[in-house]
Amino acid sequence: MPRIDRATEDDWPLLRAVRVAALTDVPRAFASTLERQHSMTEAQWRAWLGEVAFFLATEDGEPVGVAGGAPDPAGLELVSVWVAARHRGGPLAAELVGGVVEHARASGHAAVTAWVGGWNDRAARFYARLGFAPTGRTDLNPVYRAQCEVELSLPLSDDLGHGRPVGDQDGDRVR
Ligand SMILES: CC(C)(COP(=O)(O)OP(=O)(O)OC[C@H]1O[C@@H](n2cnc3c(N)ncnc32)[C@H](O)[C@@H]1OP(=O)(O)O)[C@@H](O)C(=O)NCCC(=O)NCCS
Repeated sequence: MPRIDRATEDDWPLLRAVRVAALTDVPRAFASTLERQHSMTEAQWRAWLGEVAFFLATEDGEPVGVAGGAPDPAGLELVSVWVAARHRGGPLAAELVGGVVEHARASGHAAVTAWVGGWNDRAARFYARLGFAPTGRTDLNPVYRAQCEVELSLPLSDDLGHGRPVGDQDGDRVR
């Protein structure tokens, strides 16, 4: 059974290994290339780990899955979601995304967003099961320019008002 940990900057070799595995496996699922990741220096990997909250799944020390949460104006953007083929159809992918969602909640973000390729039915169904819904925004993949991507969002605002009244102190604006 894999273990999941929030990656620290010292985990940069593991992040590099999992990104190489993911981009070798399904290149067009991501907005990067193997060449770009291979050209990154240790300092750049460490800087990326400083910006993005990555959750890494390992099994016997080998990386088998990853999900990251990158700060974004609309909330926290889910990035780099991938699990090794032998772990698909099991709980691992949802657990990794759950780590990012919990991190977003704990950091006070109102939503978690994600971009999914229009061709990627499996990922789209996976995100739908977790409660993500299309926002209506679409864009081209920055690397695979012919490929349309769909933005999804998981609102976290249901949690924001728990136990607290909404509106001003007099209740005038509460409906
Ligand atoms: C996306 C990913 C993380 C999802 O993890 P997973 O373990 O495969 O997800 P699950 O099996 O729990 O859910 C997949 C859903 O797609 C369905 N599915 C399975 N194979 C499918 C296929 N070939 N086409 C369409 N849907 C498919 C499953 O039935 C399930 O839907 P359901 O929950 O409604 O039954 C994983 O498939 C992966 O790493 N894919 C490659 C990288 C990738 O595409 N990342 C996403 C980038 S946005």
